[in-house]
Amino acid sequence: MDLSASNHRIPLSDGNSIPIIGLGTYAEPATTKKGDCTASVKIAIDTGYRHIDGAHLYQNENEVGDAIREKIAEGKVRREDIFYCGKLWATNHVPEMVRPALERTLKTLKLDYVDLYIIEVPMAFKPGDEVYPMDENGKWLYHKSDLQATWEALEACKDAGLAKSLGVSNFNRRQLELILNKPGLKYKPVSNQIECHPYFTQPKLLKFCQQHDIVVVAYSPLGTSRDPLWVNISSPPLLHDVLLNSLGKKYSKTAAQIALRFNIQRGVVVIPKSFNPERIKENFQIFDFSLTEEEMKSIEALNTNVRFVELLMCCSEHQVRVLAGGEPGQEEGEEQANAGGGGGLGILTVVLLSFPFSFGETVLAGGVITRSTPFMTNTDFREAPLDFTLTCVSARGWCFLVMEMKGVSLSLDDVMMEAFHTYLL
Ligand SMILES: NC(=O)c1ccc[n+]([C@@H]2O[C@H](COP(=O)([O-])OP(=O)(O)OC[C@H]3O[C@@H](n4cnc5c(N)ncnc54)[C@H](OP(=O)(O)O)[C@@H]3O)[C@@H](O)[C@H]2O)c1
Repeated sequence: MDLSASNHRIPLSDGNSIPIIGLGTYAEPATTKKGDCTASVKIAIDTGYRHIDGAHLYQNENEVGDAIREKIAEGKVRREDIFYCGKLWATNHVPEMVRPALERTLKTLKLDYVDLYIIEVPMAFKPGDEVYPMDENGKWLYHKSDLQATWEALEACKDAGLAKSLGVSNFNRRQLELILNKPGLKYKPVSNQIECHPYFTQPKLLKFCQQHDIVVVAYSPLGTSRDPLWVNISSPPLLHDVLLNSLGKKYSKTAAQIALRFNIQRGVVVIPKSFNPERIKENFQIFDFSLTEEEMKSIEALNTNVRFVELLMCCSEHQVRVLAGGEPGQEEGEEQANAGGGGGLGILTVVLLSFPFSFGETVLAGGVITRSTPFMTNTDFREAPLDFTLTCVSARGWCFLVMEMKGVSLSLDDVMMEAFHTYLL
């Protein structure tokens, strides 16, 4: 792939194309100065970025729109040079809410269309204007989602010219298959935006996406801002990595530039966020060197399968129905394991009656769960036996169910049940 600072678009399956580097724009609203986002997007466009990643959820789409329109008015770029990705939040999955949500984004941006509109997460919250709906006890209010129906509403937005391309985010293989195998599918997702960096290289999901012409867009490509509100900071900072720094020395680059180059060199789009003028420029200087095949392999070997972004709001209210108990001293018969309590550390050998939940990767350290993500595992459950060991573990006030099977640990939750139902029953 011949990529350069002035020509770095890669094709999308619908005939459009996407710049392989974009500026991420998520910054904690409470601590970010007004105007920082506008200034940063303008600097990015001056630097050569043509792709901006944003979302209604980030509460700064107005600033992104201001910057883009100012640069167009200045004659620096034309609208068609810019690629803007917007996101449908989890409170707007109900099909009738999709177009109004996109229209609100366009109104905020003061633009006529977005280049890419993606479903931000594959689970739904209670529909409405409250972005993180909770009940009076602080429990998340979920909503049953029908991803296929939501997707059809997105397709209508593309037909109406409000979005040039359609994609998804945080989708695992099965959730992608739900869309890909939808009867009467009109438009395939062109991209899947997922966490992806040298410590979380996503080899299986990347391969699946590549096989289906779905471009992977790597969020948190520098290892996040390490905001403890939503990041697992017990994992070491990516940019302190010895290998990334030593390769940086070799090429007179920084660890950040090595991490970004690694992804773009394997065809993965990167959207590093920076609101610092020097770092915005630094992150774009990744087209004047390349890593050897051996170096690419050694960076791939840094993969720990540990993610930084936990998305814990997707992990509440786990409910699993089990048929047969196993371990001595443990409960037997049909059981419900619920979230909220201490959870205990009981081990149950279970046969699932049904799969009323989705699942995610879990990393165990010393038998105690240290982090969990609610979805997006790549493990192929269809090859798995239907009985396994289920461990109920409580961590950080959340209750996780950890399934151990063929040496793989998985946590389960009941939020994204549709994919499981579809593929396992
Ligand atoms: N779809 C999703 O669910 C999802 C989830 C997370 C993120 N995203 C998107 O992906 C974007 C990027 O991910 P992210 O914001 O999580 O993390 P990131 O891009 O991996 O890292 C951003 C952090 O790194 C710092 N930084 C930037 N360039 C640097 C450099 N060259 N050297 C050292 N530090 C540097 C930034 O600080 P300064 O600003 O001070 O430079 C910021 O604290 C987001 O902004 C958002 O657009 C999407």
